[in-house]
Amino acid sequence: MYRAQRQEALPTATARAGSNIAFIKYWGVADPRINLPLNNSISMTLGSLHTTTTVEWDTAGRLSADQVTIDGEPATGKKAERVTEHLNLIRHLAGDKRHRARVVSRNNFPMASGIASSASAFAALTVAACAALDLPFERTRLSGIARRGSGSASRSLFGGFVEWEQGRDDATSVARQIYPAEHWTLRDVVAVISTAEKPVSSQNGHGMAVTSPFNSARVDSLYSMLQEVRNAITMCDLQRLGPIIEQDALAMHGVMMTSRPSLLYWQPGTIEVMQAVRRWRENDGLQVYFTIDAGPNVHLICEPAFEVEVLKRLQKLGSVRSVITSGPGDGPQLLDEHLV
Ligand code: DP6
Repeated sequence: MYRAQRQEALPTATARAGSNIAFIKYWGVADPRINLPLNNSISMTLGSLHTTTTVEWDTAGRLSADQVTIDGEPATGKKAERVTEHLNLIRHLAGDKRHRARVVSRNNFPMASGIASSASAFAALTVAACAALDLPFERTRLSGIARRGSGSASRSLFGGFVEWEQGRDDATSVARQIYPAEHWTLRDVVAVISTAEKPVSSQNGHGMAVTSPFNSARVDSLYSMLQEVRNAITMCDLQRLGPIIEQDALAMHGVMMTSRPSLLYWQPGTIEVMQAVRRWRENDGLQVYFTIDAGPNVHLICEPAFEVEVLKRLQKLGSVRSVITSGPGDGPQLLDEHLV
């Protein structure tokens, strides 16, 4: 369990959690109320892209509502509601619904960069909120709680290479570590194509997956692909891992494009990068593979030896606005220094 390090006048804790990039994607929910996914997913937790969150529980009863600040701005509307909903779950688990909270959160990467911030955000929020209340929850339990806030956040409760088991219910749909970060020093080089907010959130998209005729085909094919990904990670074999992660990213986007209504997250730059990656591989033997989340930006996965070359080549492509890099990182940590 995570324990708050410092005893404050008000119960306070601060946690830092890394984002993650999925090799086999989570797309589609069997039960949207608890974010029960349609399939297992596998990801790498990212060491350099993280969210730091302080939760201060107002046991003095001064606040009449939760107060949420993200990257220096007061959160309002849907964003604030999502945090309050998650705090409601934690209040319920703590058996005390009286107290509101002050939440201050900071991403070390621009939230509008199109890099998943909900994974690191809800992992950090879960750990900080539970630690501040001294709730004696193990990591697996915290993973299940984080899942309720954001599906992919369940995976950010662990470092390194992580599998989120689909599960049958709230208690069994949790993540576990396959290997720690030190197992494989893989790199994620993110080609940022657009920083605009996505037109349809993942949260809404997950509910639409089942409307695609391709969805069940994708889900059926995943059983063997998951095993191939586990094996490739065990062997640290990128030439085995790469083709599968590309295939599943394309399958997921195929489902998105053919759902009703149709979701088209790609931009011309997305295709420019995908084609460049394939050209570099085929013409020059550069071992680099792509994957794409619910947005236009492209994650390039390669061994550290090729990172500089990949970066150099990406910077020459007209549609790449910026590049962010990360390797695997550890699970969430509690910090002594608070943001409030
Ligand atoms: C395409 O976890 O962001 O990145 O539960 O609504 O927060 P919410 O969805 P989210 O969905 C992630 C979708 C994905 C694939 C993945 O990370 O597995």
